[in-house]
Amino acid sequence: MCGIIACRGTTGAADYLMAGLKRLEYRGYDSAGIAVTAQDGSTAVFRTTNRVDSLQTLTNSWEGPELGDAGIGHTRWATHGGVSVANAHPHQDCNQRLSVVHNGIIENADVLRKELSRTGHGFASEVDSEVIGHLLEEAMAHSGDLRQAVDQSVHRLTGSWAFVALDTVTGRVVASAHRSPLLVAQSTEGSFFASDISALTDWVDEFRILGDGDTVELADELIWLHAGVRSPAPDPVSCPPRRQGIQPTDRVDHMAREIDEQPDAAARILDTIGDDIANGALWRSLELAPFERLRLLACGTSLNAGLVIGGAVSRFGGLAHNIVVASEAAGTIVEPGTLTIAISQSGETADVLRAVEEGPRDRPMLALVNNLHSTLARNVDAVLGCSAGAEIGVAATKTFVCQVLVGTGLILSALVEFGRLSSGDAAHLVGELRSLPDRLATATLAARAAIPGIVDEVRHASGFIFLGRGAAVPYAMEGALKLKELTYRWAEAYPAGELKHGPLALVEDGTPVIVVDNGDPRLAGNIAEVLARGGRVVTIGRAGSVVDIPLGTLSPCGPLEAVVPLQLLAFTLAAELGFDVDKPRNLAKSVTVD
Ligand code: F6R
Repeated sequence: MCGIIACRGTTGAADYLMAGLKRLEYRGYDSAGIAVTAQDGSTAVFRTTNRVDSLQTLTNSWEGPELGDAGIGHTRWATHGGVSVANAHPHQDCNQRLSVVHNGIIENADVLRKELSRTGHGFASEVDSEVIGHLLEEAMAHSGDLRQAVDQSVHRLTGSWAFVALDTVTGRVVASAHRSPLLVAQSTEGSFFASDISALTDWVDEFRILGDGDTVELADELIWLHAGVRSPAPDPVSCPPRRQGIQPTDRVDHMAREIDEQPDAAARILDTIGDDIANGALWRSLELAPFERLRLLACGTSLNAGLVIGGAVSRFGGLAHNIVVASEAAGTIVEPGTLTIAISQSGETADVLRAVEEGPRDRPMLALVNNLHSTLARNVDAVLGCSAGAEIGVAATKTFVCQVLVGTGLILSALVEFGRLSSGDAAHLVGELRSLPDRLATATLAARAAIPGIVDEVRHASGFIFLGRGAAVPYAMEGALKLKELTYRWAEAYPAGELKHGPLALVEDGTPVIVVDNGDPRLAGNIAEVLARGGRVVTIGRAGSVVDIPLGTLSPCGPLEAVVPLQLLAFTLAAELGFDVDKPRNLAKSVTVD
């Protein structure tokens, strides 16, 4: 799961590649590399296990032949093979004529590697992608034509790929895609491939998307093949306005800013959809058939948003819902009358895309996405934007809040339209939602005051437990997820009633137990059980709590504002421990492998 960019430009390729890689770094930052044609007919390859900025330093200090106009670049999230320069892309064939960058997983790489080794190919890395260059080398030995070589070689691959190959001798650049995103765009500045349009929007106005089985060569006029047959290029798609893309800046703590933006983002959403909820207009605008049950499909933080949205449909409409972890969707039964809502901020999460692709096509699917131009948005029956704006921190914060808000608004709107909720009751619930921006702002202030003291107390704890009951459970789950991903400490979340069925054994002197206290009277007993074992209870919620914020217990999305102290707990502890809060280890913003 990586970011790819390639360029056949009118001026030096390296500058385009570097600028594009900076915008693609959110897709993985274990290593980065570029290969660029040089004036002496060779290819210059630069690779680093540091960030893209270090790659820039490497190219700036290049003293070899002048760099040319064609090149490929890659930012890596390691799948096969550890994080090392040798495993960084681009990879090359034995003669260093061909360079390749790849996103996806070549499932039969081991078999191919053995076959290719028997015919004399030597390998320089542990990564699956390296076999592509060697397969191309074999095919080139017959035809000498890169496009033909690509087309022949893809038949030998199984798995998923978007790869781009660069031929040093001819400067030709050819790509192929199968179950991994890749797009191509042209302008007066040159021709480009990229994993994501955010990499290219400075230079192009429109782009075309490679479908499964497409091979495309960058040329003055694109040469497009589908399943080996020359075919017309698909219609172009207009680029999103620049501000919707990922905006790299020099700030080191995007996450803190994104947490602070949550009240404004919530206010903006309510300004946009608030009036369309209680009259059913929001639901009607999607032109979907009524549903009798809801299926929420997502991963990670988006899955936690799905828990909230599913809870609302059952609580206010008496409709059944089921939560499906996207990577486990295969074989789940989708009954007639089911609406699937696939939730994904990026809209590029491979597990979600696969689950949608393999789900029953005769049941409607709606995507709740932050990126309206994403692959997921293109592959469903209806799309609803969660309108969070660009989120750069890898840990999702404001996209979660916006998913919850838009998703809950949609559910209320649908229930009114189905006659399951009166518009009067819905209007009252919308009133609750309208108080959210203020409640989020109050929670941010309260948490900023209280969290540093709590962090001082718990900074040496090796593990944390998060508890909630009812509508607070998804927020406890989200708190634990944030803590794990940012601080690299163990964190488990449970409905508080589950504690006594096993997890209580984990509690010892000082174990931090974070309770999202939405006023459920049964929590007092659970808290007492923890205190009796020496646990350090941190309550978030009702008056007298450690983080004393009035939780909106009547809100249709439950105590959403509780997520702010939970986000800030993870953020502050991670920052105290000296970790990169925007780019936690081993993770990426968009998970494009399954
Ligand atoms: C956690 C986080 C991830 C994502 C998950 C799904 O902070 O960001 O758990 O929520 O990878 O990503 P999307 O929403 O893009 O499908």
